[in-house]
Amino acid sequence: MNESDIRSSKRFKPQRTRRDFLGLAAAWSAVGAFVMAMLGSVRLLVPSVFPEPNSRVKLGKPAQFARESSTYFQRYRLWVFRDDDGFHAVSSVCTHLGCVAERDAEGQYLCPCHGSKFDDQGNVRSGPAPKGLMWVELSISPEGQLVADTLKPVARGTKLAV
Ligand code: FES
Repeated sequence: MNESDIRSSKRFKPQRTRRDFLGLAAAWSAVGAFVMAMLGSVRLLVPSVFPEPNSRVKLGKPAQFARESSTYFQRYRLWVFRDDDGFHAVSSVCTHLGCVAERDAEGQYLCPCHGSKFDDQGNVRSGPAPKGLMWVELSISPEGQLVADTLKPVARGTKLAV
């Protein structure tokens, strides 16, 4: 059996050369780089930082609030009051551990979690709450809406005259 017979035989398997190995390594490296680039592209679609919800919330036109009224916005955990001096807003989030305090018929706030009590102005009457309920800033938007910033405290007694 001569050399050409051996090469044409079905059982003949040519030995892999160094060139073949380097070619395969280059091809697999290109595939790997492409896959990693695609994964990176997909990762770009997911934001790394999720923005916090906006603390400035629109509550409606001032005319929608009757004089001497109190309105609760459950979504914002916020009481909005209107009297002859103007508007003020009190957060119902308890300053102890963040439960929502409930307001009774006399206007006092009671926290169901650990029993803190607040007067009708949000001052602490009994603990464990370390401080009173937060009065939040109110303003009027350019469109004429009453806007509360639920994370911006104002001094107790601050009212927005409209
Ligand atoms: S969370 Fe209100 S008293 Fe503890």
